[in-house]
Amino acid sequence: MAKRTLGQLDVSGKRVLVRVDFNVPIDQGIEGISLYDQRLRATLPTINYLVEQGSKVVLCSHLGRPKGEVVEELRLAPVGDRLAFLLERPVKSLPEITGPMVSDAIAAMAPGDVVLLENLRFNPGEEQNDEAFACELSDSVDCFVNDAFAVCHRAHASTAGITKFLPSAMGLLVQREVTEMGKALENPDKPLAALMGGAKVSDKILLLDNLLEDLDHLFIGGGMCVTFLNALGFLTGDSRIEEDRLEFARQIMERAKKSNTEVHLPDYVVIANEFKPDPSDIDVMHVGDVPDGWYIMDIAPSAAQEFSETLRKCKTIIWNGPMGVFEMPKFSKGTRTVAEAIAKLEDVTSVVGGGSTAEAIEELGLMDKMTHVSTGGGASLEFLEGKELPGIAALPEG
Ligand code: 3PG
Repeated sequence: MAKRTLGQLDVSGKRVLVRVDFNVPIDQGIEGISLYDQRLRATLPTINYLVEQGSKVVLCSHLGRPKGEVVEELRLAPVGDRLAFLLERPVKSLPEITGPMVSDAIAAMAPGDVVLLENLRFNPGEEQNDEAFACELSDSVDCFVNDAFAVCHRAHASTAGITKFLPSAMGLLVQREVTEMGKALENPDKPLAALMGGAKVSDKILLLDNLLEDLDHLFIGGGMCVTFLNALGFLTGDSRIEEDRLEFARQIMERAKKSNTEVHLPDYVVIANEFKPDPSDIDVMHVGDVPDGWYIMDIAPSAAQEFSETLRKCKTIIWNGPMGVFEMPKFSKGTRTVAEAIAKLEDVTSVVGGGSTAEAIEELGLMDKMTHVSTGGGASLEFLEGKELPGIAALPEG
């Protein structure tokens, strides 16, 4: 049975507590927030819907990992300011999470008003999924909406515990995430491809385990391709190999053969003599010839083209992890080429896992060219691994 949706919850004129995930980079101030505000934008449909219903919208979120204490730099007010700009209506940021000043502020709200509570993780009860804290959170409101997909893999007071105290439903963002990623997993149009990258094989073991047999194509780039190339006997210079994952990489290649999954590894790679943004020497080399003292930094332009050609033939693409060291501009081209190729495809479902892949897509300005870019890093990974997310499991059925 599907979980209860926002449309199935009586929110009209009600005080609605909405869990959002506004865990955005805050270290560069408001400018940093506006650069990476995908998570804020993604909650606008739910907030606007509630405003239209005359609800009093009480938003709550965590920011960073303050470990149960007040950390001045992790107050949510600057995020509230950015949200007000995006919503084009005032957002009142409160300096507390619960207590008399919060209940007074909620009591004074008019229909359509929006307030943002202080960082939930300032209270140790949040991460402990403490029942008393969840109950306190529920005190001044009538119902609960979970629109924080990115933190649904955590069983916290504001994601799981709270549902014991209030009529609850998933928000429009959570619904979209679950629908789009669920479709790609359960009922994909074929051919189905997975494009995997990022630093480590160990981060992707469960994902590969869950997807492999259903895939027509598996593309491997990023740091994780080093371990695969090494497992196949290629020279990988001084690049970091996960010795304890070599056997797993070999098994994946064997399993892929049996399930007719075509595995694509780069034949040429971009290498550097130092692992830093501006090394003194950069070259493009066949994977058989990477010399000692050099590091694999990106897939080569020819490999990115080869990947893109095959991706063009696919109907569903699941992407998790950049193709190279994307955060260093000189080694971002492989990711850019592949992203631009996917962006141009028509009639394809492209589902992009959150975290560093979503940041890359955001930086490339290609967000709206993908079918779905998840707001969740860890959460999207766990969802695609086939795990049940506690924040979703806790919601009632529709
Ligand atoms: C995230 O950024 O992935 C979520 O907000 C969860 O944050 P956490 O890893 O600190 O729980």
